[in-house]
Amino acid sequence: MSATEAPGAPPSAEEKIKAAQLIDPYNVSGEVDESGNVQAIDYDRLRDQFGVQPLTEDHLKRFEQVTGKPAHRLMRRKLFFSHRDFDKILDAYEQHGTFMLYTGRGPSSGSMHLGHTVPFLFTKELQELFDVPLVIMLTDDEKYLYTRNKNHGVQKKGQAVEDFMEFAHENAKDIIALGFDMKKTFIYTDYEYLGGHFYRNTSEFESLVTFNQAEGAFGFNGSTNIGLVAYGAKQCVAAFPSSYPELFGYKDYRYPDFDLEAKRRHKDLSKIMTLIPCAIDQEPYFRMLRDRCERMTDPHPKTSLILSKFLTALQGPGGKMSASDPNSAIFMSDTPGQIKNKINRYAFSGGRETLEEHRELGGNPDVDVAYTYLSYFLEDDAELEDLATKYRSGELLTGEMKKRCVDELQKFVADFQERRSKVTHEVMREFMQPRKLEYKGNPNPTKPVVKTPAMQKGVDGEKTEDGEREEGGKEGKMTKGERKAAKIAEKKAEKLALREKKEGEGAAPAAEP
Ligand code: TYM
Repeated sequence: MSATEAPGAPPSAEEKIKAAQLIDPYNVSGEVDESGNVQAIDYDRLRDQFGVQPLTEDHLKRFEQVTGKPAHRLMRRKLFFSHRDFDKILDAYEQHGTFMLYTGRGPSSGSMHLGHTVPFLFTKELQELFDVPLVIMLTDDEKYLYTRNKNHGVQKKGQAVEDFMEFAHENAKDIIALGFDMKKTFIYTDYEYLGGHFYRNTSEFESLVTFNQAEGAFGFNGSTNIGLVAYGAKQCVAAFPSSYPELFGYKDYRYPDFDLEAKRRHKDLSKIMTLIPCAIDQEPYFRMLRDRCERMTDPHPKTSLILSKFLTALQGPGGKMSASDPNSAIFMSDTPGQIKNKINRYAFSGGRETLEEHRELGGNPDVDVAYTYLSYFLEDDAELEDLATKYRSGELLTGEMKKRCVDELQKFVADFQERRSKVTHEVMREFMQPRKLEYKGNPNPTKPVVKTPAMQKGVDGEKTEDGEREEGGKEGKMTKGERKAAKIAEKKAEKLALREKKEGEGAAPAAEP
């Protein structure tokens, strides 16, 4: 059985007979009826089951009002359809000026498919609109452990740790080619980056999750390898800004420096909120995360989520486009000819059996895969609506819908490949360098968080928001003189922020040193 013995393994023929809808990080399948037909994923049911909230017109309005820009097509069309505490992220941005974006990819192969680009395209837009820092986690460890688990412990050719590290590098280049701004983006692979404060958050988080809880969330059992059981904690704490001190201008406590100033995790960073854009399969991780944010030594605000539907498999709306089934997916490395062939041969059609029937009764764009793909990638709302109307009336034929889809995807993939060819190993390494990120956030926050003295040039040491020296600092507690100097610096920062705000240039975001 796939879900319990080897999470993620496709269902066997027997399993396909009558099975409930199953969505988690390792399985995506609509309900299977008695004849073995896979039904479309029921997102309303899923939303209720997961207890996530619908993204409403009010959210769109508020988003547009806060950013001053129209919402992204994926939001307008409710392909990002659900959330947790999205309102709180907008509040945090309005009031305190910044938040952190976090998303990721499990490098299961050397090339990403069209579906994987969906959360990244959306994240890129959010980063541009809000001007905030972004971390992208590449889980080479997860994919290694998962693959080995799926193969019942056997390591097949091309599936060694080093192979997944290589996939992570190739995927990092794919992600960069989607157009992220290097100044505010940090990309890392787990095998390369994990340690320091990240690892301390991991250990603490691991101590808050029992085996039974991991089993419940991910369908593990006693045969699941222990690496995979423990992995979830890493994906969770990756949402904590305190896992990445260097990105905010602080020091980490790692080889080779072991800087004593950085021995303790930085409390300031635990105040920054995080938003995770992803498809809804990843939600079980973040439910586990949210339940424990407040139980950390430095409690973090509950992480916000914005969740998308799945770009469907070519075969139809019961499953997601998946790299493990090449015929279900269009890869970002596909040639124009391959794209054309896959759409023409495999894309499930909402058209009628015969031309006459189609002309008379019309087609159904809601289940038509070519139309569905256009709804993700075609920018023009009016053209999309026109295509649907003409398809429904029978004026537009399946072949014509497919052709429009092929044209759009060929262009999207060709433009991507052009940019991808320019992403060198050096460029990739620059994105992967832990360094202070440069971002401005909201130029006019209503309750700007005062910069701490540690964030002022020339003032040594680290402080919490209430102005106390962090434990474990180089010189221990602050002296009276230091405290006075810190207070003066804080007042100065306050005045400066106020002046900047008045001048309309804005105060600095909360965590920018
Ligand atoms: P992975 O590699 O399975 O998927 C990467 C991202 O793509 C989304 N996704 C899809 N979105 C739309 N249509 C599809 N057909 C489709 N297939 C996948 C996923 O939801 C994800 O957002 N464990 C994760 C890696 C990870 C991560 C994260 C993802 C680590 N930290 C934080 C999101 C957020 C994984 O294996 O993703």
